[in-house]
Amino acid sequence: MKVLITGSGGLIGSESCKFFLEKGHNVLGIDNNLRKYFFGNAGDTSGNIAAIQRNYGNERFKNYSIDLRERKEVINFFKKLGPFDVVNAFWHFIQNPKQGEAYNLGGCKENSASILEVINILDKDFGLKLKYTYIDNNRIGDHICYYSDMSKFKRDFPEWKITRNLKEIIEEIIEGKK
Ligand SMILES: NC(=O)c1ccc[n+]([C@@H]2O[C@H](COP(=O)([O-])OP(=O)(O)OC[C@H]3O[C@@H](n4cnc5c(N)ncnc54)[C@H](O)[C@@H]3O)[C@@H](O)[C@H]2O)c1
Repeated sequence: MKVLITGSGGLIGSESCKFFLEKGHNVLGIDNNLRKYFFGNAGDTSGNIAAIQRNYGNERFKNYSIDLRERKEVINFFKKLGPFDVVNAFWHFIQNPKQGEAYNLGGCKENSASILEVINILDKDFGLKLKYTYIDNNRIGDHICYYSDMSKFKRDFPEWKITRNLKEIIEEIIEGKK
C-alpha cells in the first residue's frame, strides 16, 4: 500500500511514517519545514525526514516539500503521484458536496475477497503456496459477508474510479513485505 502522511517531519507525522514503514508500506510525505519558518532552527524538522530516509531508504520513503496551503501544488501532487482512491473520493466530494448524504466507501465485490479466494490468488498468480487447513464449520458469532455497495457514490461522482484491482493490491502487499 502507498501511504500519504502530511506534516511528515513533525512529531506525529514522523512517527506515523515510521509506523507504516515498519508495517511494510511505502510512504509519501508532505512537509515543507514550515515549522522552522515559525520557530527558527530549534523548530527545524528536516533532521526527522533525513533520519527516516536513512533508516528506510529513498525508495520506500519520499518526502515532498510542498506547502499544503497551495491548492495548485497539492492538486499537481495528486495528479502526479496519486491516485489514492479513498483520498480521491473525498476530493471529488469536496468539489461537489451533497447535503446530508451518507455513502458507502469500499472496494465493492470486485475488490473484496474471502480468505480462500486470497489463498487461491496467492497460489495461481504469485506462486505462493500457503499451508492451511479448512474446517467446514463457521466460527460462532460469524456474520454474513457483506460487500460495500458504492453505486450511490458512483452515481453522484461518476468521475471517481477505483484504480487498483485486487491482484494489484495483493501484489503491493507482497512487495511491501519483501
Ligand atoms: N503533538 C500532540 O500531542 C498533538 C495532539 C493532538 C493533535 N495534534 C495535532 O496533530 C498535528 C501535528 O502535530 P505535531 O505535534 O506533529 O506538530 P509538528 O509541529 O511537530 O509537525 C507539523 C509538521 O507539519 C509541517 N507543516 C506545517 N505547515 C505545513 C504546510 N503548510 N505545508 C507542509 N507542511 C507543513 C511542519 O513543517 C511540521 O514538520 C497538528 O495539527 C496538531 O495540532 C498534536
